[in-house]
Amino acid sequence: MDHIALQKELQDQGLIILPGFFDPLVIGQIQAAAKAVFDIQFKRFEIQGDYLLQMQSLFENHLDEFIACGKMIQSGLIELYQLAVNPQIVQLMKDLGLAHPLMCTRPVLFFNHPSLAKSEHFYKTPLHQDWTSMLASDDSLVVWLPLMDIEMEHGPVVFYPGSHKLGPLTDRLENGFAQVDFDRAAYPRVQKAMKLGDIAVFSTLLVHESGVITNDEIRWSCHFRYTNMEDPTFIENGFPHPYIYKPSQELIDKYLHKNS
Ligand SMILES: [Fe+2]
Repeated sequence: MDHIALQKELQDQGLIILPGFFDPLVIGQIQAAAKAVFDIQFKRFEIQGDYLLQMQSLFENHLDEFIACGKMIQSGLIELYQLAVNPQIVQLMKDLGLAHPLMCTRPVLFFNHPSLAKSEHFYKTPLHQDWTSMLASDDSLVVWLPLMDIEMEHGPVVFYPGSHKLGPLTDRLENGFAQVDFDRAAYPRVQKAMKLGDIAVFSTLLVHESGVITNDEIRWSCHFRYTNMEDPTFIENGFPHPYIYKPSQELIDKYLHKNS
């Protein structure tokens, strides 16, 4: 499909899915790089077994380390950053109409399974729009991709095409998510199995939610968010950026005084 057709589909639906956009081998390396970080702590604690069992064991018996691995991966996995600024994806953003794209949040990598979370919102996001938490350009976009082949049992994202035309539906965040009141029955529902290398690109105003994980595999995925610095409203608003990124005194105290 040419750029004009893709732009039109994105404007109409708020969503496009591009099969085989990336080389599956490159994407596979990201999950391997993330797992390698966990492996270091599995080795330290001599945790054996299959991957989900190892993850469950670290989660249940060494929660601080489990969270720390997740944070290291989310904030510093080199392969993830490289993908987010890959020339192919930057060009795609331009082709889709973002004249001057910038990343407006850090890249995010998710590894979700009900057995690796203390409460549901950590593995299953409710109906929400990304836009409110970002306040980015009206045409800002999310790129979501699985880091594995995902079937319906892995609970791929559920999208509601056309819902982006409703504009922002809330000004409230809960657990970091701009949850929305939304009548699922009023819109079509798109939830697709996706292969390694496929990507979904969607408007930050599109209503979406996590699918339900019904198998015993961790769902690995990531997303990147891009804003358009040439968007007149975004310029007029002065480029708001609501994310907070700061060190935690609580964690510093916990680490420095762990033996006292
Ligand atoms: Fe989202």
